[in-house]
Amino acid sequence: MKQAAAKAAIAHVPDECVVGVGSGSTANFFIAELGGIRRRIKGAVASSEASAKRLKELGIRVLDLNGVDELPVYVDGADEVTRHLAMIKGGGGALTREKIVAAVAKQFVCIADQSKLVDVLGRFPLPVEVIPIARSYVARELAKLGGSPAWRQDFVTDNGNVILDVRNLAITAPVELETRLDQIAGVVTNGLFARRGADVLLLGTTTGVQTLKR
Ligand code: 5RP
Repeated sequence: MKQAAAKAAIAHVPDECVVGVGSGSTANFFIAELGGIRRRIKGAVASSEASAKRLKELGIRVLDLNGVDELPVYVDGADEVTRHLAMIKGGGGALTREKIVAAVAKQFVCIADQSKLVDVLGRFPLPVEVIPIARSYVARELAKLGGSPAWRQDFVTDNGNVILDVRNLAITAPVELETRLDQIAGVVTNGLFARRGADVLLLGTTTGVQTLKR
């Protein structure tokens, strides 16, 4: 189902463009598909070192986002996604670069299997990337909001930071919570993608790929 969604995303990639590429197992299927059309794109911007490595292995040029003016499309997976196309991301720890590349892109195409579709976000622990010295402070602030943060052990992000995975947050107002969490000193990014959600969801199901639009 992940692979079918990734395959369907190729139709959203214009000729001669730079493509934004996400991270994770679903994005890896997309990278494999991109390999097949590498001659009709200029290159890619990757949201993680791992994805950049895979792209290069397939002979796809990886560009620095700072040198790219236009990114027509960003394709990435999600840990949870609603019918309004708000998401939790960051299970793989790449949330900050994912949010940056998504911000630049004109269109965000989310690719996911049907298990990722939820009515309310929050069963999946919300990843929060934190500057290392702020870890305990941020954890206390998250607890004040009703969350139960856990330090992701033996994990350092591509940006040299740590991740707190937060359970028990009632995410009924994702845009407001995303904004609130970003205001805690020491938080680099939180894994709510609600202010800039996806524009299109390609959902792999047992009966084929469904398309949901914002
Ligand atoms: C990585 C992410 C991924 O998109 C998310 O974890 C989904 O992963 P997968 O496609 O392996 O289920 O946000 O930071």
